[in-house]
Order: sequence, then structure tokens, then C-alpha cells
Amino acid sequence: MEPGPAAVAAWVAAALLEALDAGTLLGLATGCTMEPVYAALADRWAALPARDRARLARRWRSFNLDEYVGLAPADPRSFHAFMDRHLVSPLGLAAARVRLPDGAAAAPQAEADRYGAELAADGGVGLQILGLGLNGHVGFNEPPCGPEAPCRCLDLSPATRRQNAAAFGGDPGAVPAQAITLGMAEILAAERILLVVTGPAKAGILRRVLLERPSAELPASWLQSHPAATVVADRAAASWLES
Ligand code: GLP
Repeated sequence: MEPGPAAVAAWVAAALLEALDAGTLLGLATGCTMEPVYAALADRWAALPARDRARLARRWRSFNLDEYVGLAPADPRSFHAFMDRHLVSPLGLAAARVRLPDGAAAAPQAEADRYGAELAADGGVGLQILGLGLNGHVGFNEPPCGPEAPCRCLDLSPATRRQNAAAFGGDPGAVPAQAITLGMAEILAAERILLVVTGPAKAGILRRVLLERPSAELPASWLQSHPAATVVADRAAASWLES
């Protein structure tokens, strides 16, 4: 298979299904990179016998990384709505099994504390999938960010608001100024991590994340110290490995 985004998506979808089958708590992400992953998962899901689908749906437990502050779950631009469109509806899951922080909570930091505590009470993440921000963020852990940063409410950087503007009519100013995100602490505590990176635009940042000394300026670089973190990249994102 051509090592493009579709091959990456198929591989990650298979890993998610296998982990789910083993009763693993899943850590999920949103963003363009994840759309083909959830599409591949939905295809595999649809091909399963109804009995297996029902068993896996009962077993489903997941926590998303992040949510925009100020967007209610029903807002089509929220990550809640993204998960509904790409995962909950296509797979027919009970929405309550796919957890995200509540972006509309009156006190966002209190909501972040509650969400982090809920994840801890569930035993932490077994398999965490991550996209990669162009500025080296994972989740919404914007630089500078140390490895011990916990689940919290934080300001989004201008670079991230630009990167995510497409869902907001192309206007970075319309992107919420804050988000709630699991911290590097919860991410690094996952038993296993898949950093999913596709497309030529991510080649430069992926190279830095893997080759530079871990630092707060590049939050994803902390993954270098994780004992079971794997990069799943397509040829375009990993082209620099071949030169
Ligand atoms: C976003 C999200 C991350 C996502 C990353 C990459 O801002 N908060 O969870 O993985 O940035 O996004 P994309 O896959 O659209 O490039």
C-alpha cells in the first residue's frame, strides 16, 4: 500500500480496535489528521458482525484531549460535534462513553480539574493517539510547556488559532481564545502513545520534535522520553528520513 494518509489511518484504526477489544481506555484526538483515522475505523466497524459491534460498543471508554472554551457541545465547531460526526454517529456509540471536557462550563479551570480527576479515577489512558500542531503542540499544550503540566485551561497561541481557522470561516480571530486540554502529564502517563503525522506541511516540525533535545519550546519533544511512544507517519511527513 502507498504509505500515504490512508495507510496511516488504516494502521491506527486497527490499533484502536485491537486496544478496545483488550478493554483499553482510549485517549482520542481531533483535527484533520484524525478524520481519515475515524473513517477507517468506521469502515472496519461496519464490516464486523453485529454481535461484535455490540460487544465493542459496550466496552468503549474514551477521553478526548481537548475542547474549546466557550463552545457548547452542540456547536458544530466544537470538538464534541467533531467526535459526534466522525465517531459517535458512524459507529452508533453511546455519546456518554466518548468523554470530552465541557467547553461551555461556567468555570473552565474547575472543569479542567474535574476532567483530569475523572480520567485519573478511570485509571488513566491506555492507548493515546495524538496529532501534531505546527508549533509542536500536542492536545492544546502550547509552547512553552513542561512535561509536568496538568489538565488545565489555557490561552491558545496566534499560530494555533491560525492553524485551526478553517472551521471558523477562515478567521483566526473567530477561533476561541482559550481551550481546556489534558496536560503533558496525563499524556505522558498513557501506557502507549501513537503520534500520528501526515502530509508535507508537518515534515519540518516532525523532524524537530524527533531530533532536537526535549524542551518546553517543543512540547511534543517530551514524547522522546516515553517508553512506548510510536510515530506513525506517512511518506510526505517523514521524507527527511530518506535524504
Ligand atoms: C489541534 C488539536 C490537536 C490536533 C492538532 C493537529 O489544534 N488540538 O489535538 O491533533 O492540533 O491538528 P491537525 O490534525 O488538524 O493538523
